[in-house]
Amino acid sequence: MAGNLDFSLFTLHFSLQKMLSIIVAIAENSAIGSENKLIYWLPNDLKRFKALTTGNTIIMGRRTFESLPKGALPNRRNIVLSRRGKAEDFPGADLYSTLDEALASCEGEVYIIGGASVYKQALPKADRLCLTYIYDTPAKADTFFPEIDESEWVETFREEHEVDEKHAYRYAFVDLERKTVDN
Ligand SMILES: NC(=O)c1ccc[n+]([C@@H]2O[C@H](COP(=O)([O-])OP(=O)(O)OC[C@H]3O[C@@H](n4cnc5c(N)ncnc54)[C@H](OP(=O)(O)O)[C@@H]3O)[C@@H](O)[C@H]2O)c1
Repeated sequence: MAGNLDFSLFTLHFSLQKMLSIIVAIAENSAIGSENKLIYWLPNDLKRFKALTTGNTIIMGRRTFESLPKGALPNRRNIVLSRRGKAEDFPGADLYSTLDEALASCEGEVYIIGGASVYKQALPKADRLCLTYIYDTPAKADTFFPEIDESEWVETFREEHEVDEKHAYRYAFVDLERKTVDN
């Protein structure tokens, strides 16, 4: 009985707390997009994105929402940021006109999924960066991830992947957590 109560209190505590992560696929020159599209197609990156974000909340800018081929992503809360858009422009998503208002409406695990303008605003607030680092410099790119100050982050996970029949580039999954007094 006491054990169950402890577990429930732990679950309640965790679900009320907010964990803010940024998830991004980033090239060697920090490129993340070109002509409002992703640059790389890496099935394992999409799988990891789905595994991490499903059941949680994703926050994106208006242009990233518009780039989604089938609109809002299923089985997770979608939030779109836009100062000018109307709710009916973003079916399946909740609309907010500031990042702070959007974050105030969230609890549990929240993932910032792009694009560059939202990454830039969220980077100082994020607890964790979930990077897919692609070992390539694309010939064409117009959108870049902001500079990461390595002194602020500690690497907690790294998984390297070689080129294979489904992945045209070498890539690594890398998690960085914000440095605290404990780490
Ligand atoms: N590699 C990756 O992992 C990854 C992930 C996501 C996106 N991308 C790429 O990134 C590119 C898009 O990035 P982007 O910077 O051009 O566009 P974006 O960040 O997706 O969207 C920008 C728009 O979001 C709205 N917005 C941003 N901050 C806001 C705030 N604080 N409050 C209210 N509204 C806010 C504004 O919409 P209004 O103009 O409507 O007011 C703004 O014009 C695309 O190429 C996409 O493919 C790459």
